[in-house]
Amino acid sequence: MLAIIGGSGLSQLAILEATRRQVVRTPYGEPSAALTFGRIHGREVVFLARHGYGNTIPPHEVNYRANLWALHSQKVRDVVSVASVGGIRSDLVPGKLAVPDQIIDYTYGRKSTFFSSTDHSVTHIDFTHPYCEALRERLLKAAAASGEAVIAGGVYGATQGPRLETAAEINRLERDGADIVGMTGMPEAALAREIGLCYAAIAVVVNYAAGRGASAHGIQLEEISAVSQQAMARVHNILEKLVMLDGG
Ligand code: HPA
Repeated sequence: MLAIIGGSGLSQLAILEATRRQVVRTPYGEPSAALTFGRIHGREVVFLARHGYGNTIPPHEVNYRANLWALHSQKVRDVVSVASVGGIRSDLVPGKLAVPDQIIDYTYGRKSTFFSSTDHSVTHIDFTHPYCEALRERLLKAAAASGEAVIAGGVYGATQGPRLETAAEINRLERDGADIVGMTGMPEAALAREIGLCYAAIAVVVNYAAGRGASAHGIQLEEISAVSQQAMARVHNILEKLVMLDGG
């Protein structure tokens, strides 16, 4: 089954014909919200609002372990994360969509592994390619089939938040090789890998990163939601096509 984790611009999935909501308990505590099960074009899909349905859980307080565990416990195999980001690279301007292929993790103090108990021997995962390539390709195919322009690839810099970055921090991220910046990509991607889920992301550029473009003198937070709403309609188109292509 496919799961969709919606970020701040996507706490409801309009294209989903919801059939039931289920509260899932996990050994790691409560997920951000009840899971919403439903159908898109007849195929069962589950949706999780990363920040809760009321958008009340900030990025550093999301229980990523419970979220991924809950999905895994419901026989989910593939997870598409929809995440709002700031654009750093000059072509990644507000309104653009990207399917990133790399991550740099700047977060700290988050519970970032399932492998911290003393029950098992030290476990490492391979994370050379942090996203599931098969799902990335399907997303790119779905984007092409739906006629939505998507940038294939890009380095996602995951920052701690909830504050936005300074201009100097964005310069540093760019020197490091980051193309986009967001607050929720990690440890979500790593936990998905640890638990064996195939995980990829659609990044929605909702603002120029701090110090760039129209954010040269500050990020206009009130402009984010209009950009986000328009872009999410395009994300819906891609997700619909993804489900249709997967369904054969
Ligand atoms: N920085 C970090 N996270 C974000 C941004 C940003 O500029 N925009 C949306 N999420």
